[in-house]
Amino acid sequence: MLIKKGPDFRYSEITPKSVHLNRRKFLAGVPAVFLGARVARAAKLPNLAKSPFSTTEKQNTYDLVTHYNNFYEFGTAKSDPAKNARNFKTEPWTVSVEGLAAKPRKFSIEEILKLAPIEDRVYRHRCVEAWSIVVPWAGYSLSTLLKQVEPLPKAHFVAFQSYWNLRQMPLARPNIAGIEFPYVEGLRLDEAMHPLALLCVGMYGETLPPQDGAPVRLVVPWKYGFKSIKSIVKIRLVDKQPPATWNLENAHEYGFYSNVNPHVDHPRWSQAHERRLPGLFSNHPTLMFNGYDQVASLYSGMDLRKYF
Ligand code: MTE
Repeated sequence: MLIKKGPDFRYSEITPKSVHLNRRKFLAGVPAVFLGARVARAAKLPNLAKSPFSTTEKQNTYDLVTHYNNFYEFGTAKSDPAKNARNFKTEPWTVSVEGLAAKPRKFSIEEILKLAPIEDRVYRHRCVEAWSIVVPWAGYSLSTLLKQVEPLPKAHFVAFQSYWNLRQMPLARPNIAGIEFPYVEGLRLDEAMHPLALLCVGMYGETLPPQDGAPVRLVVPWKYGFKSIKSIVKIRLVDKQPPATWNLENAHEYGFYSNVNPHVDHPRWSQAHERRLPGLFSNHPTLMFNGYDQVASLYSGMDLRKYF
């Protein structure tokens, strides 16, 4: 199989934005102890390709998207991750793609960045908490990575696992965050192979900031935001439905599928409308599959009230 290569650069070679904006100020502001460590800093991603999947809706600002986050490893308040993930060290980084595959292997983040042309994909991102934002993500279809390892016919699901390290994430404990770690998620293989499922390495034309899931995360735009697992270290092809963090926490409230569905309310609130941030009112009708109708055929014949 012929694979198109992306731009030829190393993750660590891209000039950090903070450096090219004001190198001296940056160095003066960084405690000496951090100068030797490679912390995630947004850096330009050159030559992004346009994506036919992009929405033309108004994009939210970088400032809002990077200061209103769910990333429980770094705190449970929306403003916590921007503060607490600031020194998250994401180099070196590898993602192991393993399990029921003919060619399982590890990929360094540099290899992931070069596997395919990186696209600018503007998706609406709908949280289960009934708010939504529009973000220009950067990445390519997850299927590109999965095809590399050649999934075996008995692989029916894909299990994902986030990085978890108490030294870097002292708040990532069940008694503090209220969920178990590491954060895990899963998709059916045909969902994972759908071109809309994005292996995301950036946003707003730059690498991901720590609070948004550096250096690599999923974005699954037709599902509630919690399926879009951040800071991925392991992807495993499996035969049975894998565990998913919020489903493990409360299966009654968070189903495995978690497709955006205005007809299936969360037991504690309606999903019929959403609040478009930064708006204050929940006055936008929620669309089935968050408006991404091209995935509907994945679920034909399924009762989506039962498999919510
Ligand atoms: N991934 C990890 N590892 N930990 C998390 O707490 N939160 C999820 C998802 N991925 C989460 C995660 C939830 S609930 C949402 S809504 C989205 O990330 C938020 O992504 P954003 O902060 O980039 O908008």
